[in-house]
Amino acid sequence: MRVGVLVSGGDCPGLNAAVRGAVLHGVEVYGHDYLGYRDGWRGVAKNDSFILNRNRVRGIAPLGGTILGTSRFSPFGDEGPGIAGLKEIMKRDQLDGFLTIGGNGTQTVAQMLHEAGINAIGLPKTIDNDLEETDYSFGFDTAVHVATEAIDRLRTTGQSHKRCMVLEVMGRDAGWIALHAGIAAGAHVILLPEFAESLDQISEWVRHVHERGRASLVVVAEGFKFKGMSEGVTKGGDDGFGRARLGGIGEVLADKIEERTGIETRATILGHVQRGGVPTAFDRVLATRAGAAGADAVARGQWGTMVALRGTDTALVPLSAVAGKTKQVPLNRYDEARRMFG
Ligand code: F6P
Repeated sequence: MRVGVLVSGGDCPGLNAAVRGAVLHGVEVYGHDYLGYRDGWRGVAKNDSFILNRNRVRGIAPLGGTILGTSRFSPFGDEGPGIAGLKEIMKRDQLDGFLTIGGNGTQTVAQMLHEAGINAIGLPKTIDNDLEETDYSFGFDTAVHVATEAIDRLRTTGQSHKRCMVLEVMGRDAGWIALHAGIAAGAHVILLPEFAESLDQISEWVRHVHERGRASLVVVAEGFKFKGMSEGVTKGGDDGFGRARLGGIGEVLADKIEERTGIETRATILGHVQRGGVPTAFDRVLATRAGAAGADAVARGQWGTMVALRGTDTALVPLSAVAGKTKQVPLNRYDEARRMFG
């Protein structure tokens, strides 16, 4: 059996641990051949690959980024090979199937391949934690860790100046990073894409904190919308998968809070710091297990599936249940946090 491995979409901590887990199982346990493609589907289209073996994955689990590189190059885009081209490439490279490591866009592509008769198995990576059917995706825990530390730091400087501090975090249309980091660091207001709030309500929470002599900490997810807004704040352009690039709500919100409350307010946009650096132990373990489970699925011919985490166990779920969907924060999770705002 010969398997093509690639990472597609935005990177995240834990990718290398996943590749190592897959290769150690696939090559060492099953005796399969693993071929790594550089920069996602671009490497497949441009014939840019290298053999993955025990030596190539030595010591990489703690490393951030990805030894494979990634891109948002779509196999179905203008320069992509399309289904017919991919089938030719698979013959050329003698591949039985692909292990595709990615988030929403990547799993959707994997499902399209599966429907077209191309073998694919997905591994769930994304700091956004917005993949359906899995409790967690690797990368998320590290991003939450980074965001939590940032809020802790904003707390001390905010308190010195009696300012309101706003932190914008990533997550696209899901508020998981904001919710978890906000709870972990004891933020006073947590604003998510899933639940619009009015400026009046936000200002009231901020004022309430200020009246107690505290510096208010507001965490806002990049996809948050005020009540009445239909679109999130965007940077212009798209992300390569046809989705608008989000970002900038932190500054907008900080200006509005200051204007409305008269409390000096500063915004910090955490940005790609959330995606860089070494993965947490949790992400390394999850990614290693996901890689190994992916190699097991290859050996059993369980194509058309994605590795998921259910509780503490890995499981295989159909790609069709994941493709095109976004796992958002449910109301009960928001409500339990919202009760503590202000
Ligand atoms: O999906 C991961 C993510 O980091 C999102 O949270 C964010 O909106 C987006 O990718 C940023 O993408 P890029 O790296 O293209 O700026």
